[in-house]
Amino acid sequence: MKKIIVANWKMAPASFESAKKTFRAIKKTADKLHNVQTVVCPPVLYLRELGASVTGHRTVLGAQNAFWNEEEAHTGEHSPDMLVRVGAKYVILGHSERRALGESDVMIREKVRACLLSGLYVIACVGEKERDAHGGYTKFIANQVRQSLPKINMGKQLLGNIIVAYEPLWAIGKKAKRAASVEDAVEATIFIKKTLVGIFGKDAVNIPILYGGSVNDQNAGEFLEQESVNGLLVGRASLDPETFSRILTARKK
Ligand code: 13P
Repeated sequence: MKKIIVANWKMAPASFESAKKTFRAIKKTADKLHNVQTVVCPPVLYLRELGASVTGHRTVLGAQNAFWNEEEAHTGEHSPDMLVRVGAKYVILGHSERRALGESDVMIREKVRACLLSGLYVIACVGEKERDAHGGYTKFIANQVRQSLPKINMGKQLLGNIIVAYEPLWAIGKKAKRAASVEDAVEATIFIKKTLVGIFGKDAVNIPILYGGSVNDQNAGEFLEQESVNGLLVGRASLDPETFSRILTARKK
């Protein structure tokens, strides 16, 4: 199965020129890889122009957020359909940095619903703040999965557009001491898969589960070797095209 490797550029780079250069360099490597689906999620302002240089399906674009209501007045927001029109195929929703700004499970669920109905692939992020010795964090993750995904009657078609990213907060960003261990990631991804099957039935076994948090060119290969880890969500290391290219090609099997 193809691994899905997602670059979450967050609020970088500062200029469109730099975004264009980075995207082109990533695309050069990514377009050659038949066993990887590469998704670059730049700041929304860059989507349309980067979209103009997308060719084929191996390197595609995604957004980092979307709003759920297509109609009423919502200053500062952008709708799923607008994202589709500027070339986004994927959207990251419920990232912990957005949850920290006050985005609730209910809001995320509405966003997931609206984006799925617009035909986007949704990357729904879940992950615990910290790990306790008694496994309480698994309840937290299960609850996030349950609350962040809509209970619309999802046919296979919509279910096939859901991806879940496991991003433990303690492993994300500059302040993190380390990435999750491969064992932690495997355990959590299997647990999330079981939770999804519990919610949506057996078709949910095909929902890809990604790992994210301090992924780099040193640890990517080991994560990608794991059957239960269907791909990676990469922050900092995705802004350097050489490092990110090494991540894209780190898969040994
Ligand atoms: P880092 O890879 O910079 O730790 O960020 C992870 C992340 O938040 C990706 O969405």
